[in-house]
Amino acid sequence: MKRFTSVNDVNNLSALVQEAIQLKKNPYQHKHLGQNKVLGLIFMNPSLRTRLSTQRAAMNLGMNVIVMDINKDGWKLETREGVIMDGDAAEHVKDAVAVMGQYCDIIGVRAFPLLQNKEEDYAENVINQFIKYAGVPIISLESTTLHPLQSFADLLTITEYKKTAKPKVVLTWAPHPKALPQAVPNSFAEWMSAADVDFVITHPEGYELDKKYTWNAKIEYDQNKAFEGAEFIYAKNWSSYHHYGQILSKDRHWTVSAEKMKLTDNAYFMHCLPVRRNVVVNDEVIDSPNSIVIPLAGNRLWAAQTVLKKILEG
Ligand code: CP
Repeated sequence: MKRFTSVNDVNNLSALVQEAIQLKKNPYQHKHLGQNKVLGLIFMNPSLRTRLSTQRAAMNLGMNVIVMDINKDGWKLETREGVIMDGDAAEHVKDAVAVMGQYCDIIGVRAFPLLQNKEEDYAENVINQFIKYAGVPIISLESTTLHPLQSFADLLTITEYKKTAKPKVVLTWAPHPKALPQAVPNSFAEWMSAADVDFVITHPEGYELDKKYTWNAKIEYDQNKAFEGAEFIYAKNWSSYHHYGQILSKDRHWTVSAEKMKLTDNAYFMHCLPVRRNVVVNDEVIDSPNSIVIPLAGNRLWAAQTVLKKILEG
């Protein structure tokens, strides 16, 4: 594997999931693979799960890790090409990234969208500059449009918990007080479309995602209908793609409640976390035996370790 920024970087998805299942059984089997190799983790935004799971994954493979919160610890970066740098930014991202590549064998980067200009955000300017200038393999720790490490862990968890060969998996929009990126739902849709599942997305009108990711999903605007017979409910808020970055609804009828979960086939509840309790999902659901949010977060480790292993081998 040369990089990991999307499901399109994966040659054989089911083999990748099986590899993660094997790694989970024997985490230290490849502890010499990363000897004398350095993973750099560059964060432009906050993180708990991605940061800790990827660090631990690298440690399991014998790698050393450098973590940098670029906004706190680095020079302010300019990301636009060809500008006269007489403003706040002291360093251009292309210079900073090329330097990082001198110290690291693999670089992970997290760069959220600003949600102000769709074309700019969907051009993936930051991660593309990392790919272009680092000279080493790049891993997305969540880019402006995708979160592939999360989606890999999502698919791994569904594979472990599914009761039928082709489970019904429902991605449901849920309310949130802030405008959030589309990266998690885009990515989830991309991975579910490539997996052997019956995939349904439910959201209020106006929250349609980019068809590039949802081409293989059934869109159902009636959340109750979507929940019928579901084996997995994956809740997530996102801001509007078409009315870019806007909050069109805060309707609490879309909150995942125990009543709604009764419509499902005793479904497991999933969320990538962090989650706003009693806004996105009620306590009675997330604290129920059907909630698998913690094992899902645990699987972030095995997803990251599998990706790092594939890149080190590649
Ligand atoms: N799910 C997820 O990516 O969590 P963090 O933002 O805490 O890394």
